[in-house]
Amino acid sequence: MRVSNKGLLSGAFLCMVGAASAAPADVQTGQQLYSQCAICHQIGDGAINTIGPELTNIIGREAGVHPDYRFSDSLVAAGADGLVWDEATLDRFLENPRDLIPGTKMNYRGMRDDDDRAALIAYLASFGGESRDVPAAAETFEVAPEILAIAGDAAYGEYLSGECTSCHNSSDADDGIPSISGHSPEYFVTVMQAYKQGAREHPVMSMLARRLSNEEIAGLAAYFETVD
Ligand code: HEC
Ligand code: HEC
Repeated sequence: MRVSNKGLLSGAFLCMVGAASAAPADVQTGQQLYSQCAICHQIGDGAINTIGPELTNIIGREAGVHPDYRFSDSLVAAGADGLVWDEATLDRFLENPRDLIPGTKMNYRGMRDDDDRAALIAYLASFGGESRDVPAAAETFEVAPEILAIAGDAAYGEYLSGECTSCHNSSDADDGIPSISGHSPEYFVTVMQAYKQGAREHPVMSMLARRLSNEEIAGLAAYFETVD
């Protein structure tokens, strides 16, 4: 793993992160490689279908069924035959799309380098899906309405945010650490409560979230929504 020059504190934390999760550097390389896909595919919060279908939660998705997107007959047929996108099938598809699905309308010549594909797939997987390290429960995790209804105090959130920005320190997802700015409070609170209640596990985030009260999480959500 890579330890960046972010200072001693986050360096020490990053070691803990690296010990328990997939190599963060991979995800970062994958993010760079994703520029080859981004002209046709959106991914992440608020992503919509464009030239290609949006790719959030692609891991575990049946091929050719994403709602409101017109797939080629070939991809629809492959999905009907049981093709599901996981690390292995994505690897074959991205190496040479027309080799796996002759007749696909994805006009991309393929990514030949094995390590590049692995990094790209790790990046795709960081946007959720079923076979990730994160238990499937996290994807269906629901927060009690009374917790979601707490009105967050953004000024208090800003005061607390110093503990977060040592790692989440910019709008780009650096070193495999996701950006936490600009999300809806609902998303932010749901993820934090998933860590707090154990539906999603991560050594650092679970520990931090368990220490925060519901009001503090609401305040952080209100603050980080305003950061870009
Ligand atoms: C020039 C545009 C273009 C580029 C570049 C491109 N794609 Fe696609 N992609 C498409 C289109 C169009 C489809 C739909 C294919 C079909 O229906 O046959 C598609 C389909 C897919 C699917 C299947 C989705 C599903 O729901 O079944 C995946 C996965 C995918 N692309 C991933 C990628 C990745 C990762 C990259 C970057 C390496 C990439 N694509 C590059 C246009 C593109
Ligand atoms: C030591 C580094 C570190 C610190 C400090 C830290 N985080 Fe994180 N955070 C991470 C990493 C790494 C992940 C990705 C974990 C995973 O894959 O589940 C993450 C994930 C998140 C996510 C989920 C993002 C998403 O879209 O999946 C949120 C929200 C978040 N952190 C909020 C916070 C808040 C709020 C604080 C301060 C109270 C904080 N983090 C402090 C490293 C850190």
